[in-house]
Amino acid sequence: MKEQILAKFAELFGGESPVFASAGRINLIGEHTDYNGGYVFPGAIDKVIMAAIRPNGTDKVRAYSIDYGQMCEFGLKEEDKPEQQWARYIFGVCRETAKRGGKVEGFDTVFCGNVPLGAGLSSSAALESTFAYAINELWQNGIDKFELARIGQSTEHNYCGVKCGIMDQFASCFGKAGCLIRLNCKTMEYKYFPFNPKGYRLVLLDTCVKHELASSAYNKRRESCENAAAAIRKRHPEVEFLSDAKRLWLDEVREEIPQEDFLRAEYVIGEVQRVLDVCDALERDDYEIVGEMMYQTHFGMSKLYEVSCDELDFLARLARKMDVTGCRVMGGGFGGCTINLVKDELYQPFIEAAKAQFSAKYGHEPKVYDVVISDGASRIA
Ligand code: GLA
Repeated sequence: MKEQILAKFAELFGGESPVFASAGRINLIGEHTDYNGGYVFPGAIDKVIMAAIRPNGTDKVRAYSIDYGQMCEFGLKEEDKPEQQWARYIFGVCRETAKRGGKVEGFDTVFCGNVPLGAGLSSSAALESTFAYAINELWQNGIDKFELARIGQSTEHNYCGVKCGIMDQFASCFGKAGCLIRLNCKTMEYKYFPFNPKGYRLVLLDTCVKHELASSAYNKRRESCENAAAAIRKRHPEVEFLSDAKRLWLDEVREEIPQEDFLRAEYVIGEVQRVLDVCDALERDDYEIVGEMMYQTHFGMSKLYEVSCDELDFLARLARKMDVTGCRVMGGGFGGCTINLVKDELYQPFIEAAKAQFSAKYGHEPKVYDVVISDGASRIA
């Protein structure tokens, strides 16, 4: 990938360039908990966005996306927001860096990636983190890694319309090979957990389904959670985020909030606890419990949070039927992947059955991604 990028860069702009990369992520458990101040448990993966980025001495960015085969040129002022969605991520990162007092001037860039788009693997966070990291280094802004992650998150909020949490950008910036990271999204305390389950494999099955209205549905989920938290806060002022609430407290406000908000909150409160239970189970090498929690998460995401879809539910049911240890929809939902914890000896039969039965029903095979937990943002040349 690096050679391809540098060759294109030389062709378009001439000469050489520094190269940066940042990763997509998986999340073992802890979904839709980040913007509720709860725990998440992600890790960066060996699928990246990579970019050659070189200051050009002007006040314009000239960006070329190899994957889209498109060039986009834009200025760095608020009113210069480009048309193309992919370019808005880069523009947003520049703006958010500037808003934090960082220096950003014009640059030339060529980038591409192998993080599958719309699969729930955070290709957009990988893109944001690559540019946040690179700009910070090229102009020596000295912004710390937490703030680099927040630059990506604010880019989503202010330039892409998704009110996301911090998980994806955090994982992309803090990822470490072989480790999952448990992050408390309220305090931003985190801990690396070496993850190498003996006798098991983590594999993703991509339904290749991508729902159009995913970002507005996502923002709606967030609003429901905030409504529920606000209702609880009236009785329990210590509740800053929904994750601070006890299950009992939610029951107290059941009649005061819409049923939909109640169900969303019920899921979130359960999910925050499941992350802790999974971490405990991992410390005992108890993968059966880890897997059971994954199934519980799937149930909650499907029936309470309602971010699953037919194809994902089908794969989760098949996994259960075949005694796969754990399976659930991963990431924001509304399509994308299931993450599966599967015993070595079951891996092959499971993948074969999933391909055959899924394609018999939906007309195409799910894509299979083996998970390799890898490093996050870095300069690679
Ligand atoms: C998306 C968001 C994250 C997180 C997940 C769900 O990936 O970007 O912040 O909320 O969905 O866990």
